[in-house]
Amino acid sequence: MSKQMLIGLGMTGAFGANQRAWLDPSLDVKTHPDFDADIRAAQLAEQGKFQFLFLGDFPATVPQDNSVVGGMALEPIVASALIAQATSRIGIAATVATSWSIPYTLARQFKTLDVMSGGRMAWNAVTGANPQIAQAFGVMLGDSPSRYEKAYEFTEMVQNLWSSWGETALKTDKSAQIFADYNQVKTIAQKGKHLQSVGALPIPPSKQGQPVIFHSGGSPNNIAYAGRYANVMIGEVWTIEQGQAIRNGLASVCH
Ligand SMILES: Cc1cc2nc3c(=O)[nH]c(=O)nc-3n(C[C@H](O)[C@H](O)[C@H](O)COP(=O)(O)O)c2cc1C
Repeated sequence: MSKQMLIGLGMTGAFGANQRAWLDPSLDVKTHPDFDADIRAAQLAEQGKFQFLFLGDFPATVPQDNSVVGGMALEPIVASALIAQATSRIGIAATVATSWSIPYTLARQFKTLDVMSGGRMAWNAVTGANPQIAQAFGVMLGDSPSRYEKAYEFTEMVQNLWSSWGETALKTDKSAQIFADYNQVKTIAQKGKHLQSVGALPIPPSKQGQPVIFHSGGSPNNIAYAGRYANVMIGEVWTIEQGQAIRNGLASVCH
């Protein structure tokens, strides 16, 4: 079987994932916060045949050693909208954490981005493990099992909302004066331990149907979540052996 390597560009912080990359003498510090520089990077990745951009999110300033730059990227949903407009083929995976977000808002934003980008959007669904960031949103972070329990509920709600509109529900038939076939628009009614929603998104299907789901991490909970919901997993891998362990773990839990 022939295998194809898929390459993505990580846009996970002000100057990249390496927190001390900004100290490199050749790096122009004016590229943050300069969104034109991010757009140029996205366009170069697209020209270079990268499959996707990965926008991480650690949405609060957490005081630390002065010489490291952790997180500090601009807000990924807003960034994705502008990147979508400035590119035409590359996939865009934006991170939003389930611990401090609202499923209906997230489903609506990602579906909008998926329509706007012509079906190139992915949600990097993480729980968000930093209690200081949670506090910034006014949320107390639960222990690991409850974080993931909520993430399961959250993801299912989002997927259900994304399928609100049937494939041919949008009619826009002027002569019959029929905008939509509402028999094909499902209202969800979901009440779980952590979340509830009764409603349907007001957004017709995108070209790819639903945004793709990414997940990232390396813990047993990450692998279990990815096996259940993710189309793509980015592992936490420093050695070949760790990579193999994550791949084997994933293969054993894939549904
Ligand atoms: C490549 C990679 C990217 C990640 N990106 C984010 C991110 O943008 N935001 C975030 O809150 N967590 C991110 N994480 C953290 C994981 O989702 C996860 O919370 C972490 O590995 C700890 O595992 P746990 O949640 O099971 O405790 C990332 C992890 C990896 C390996």
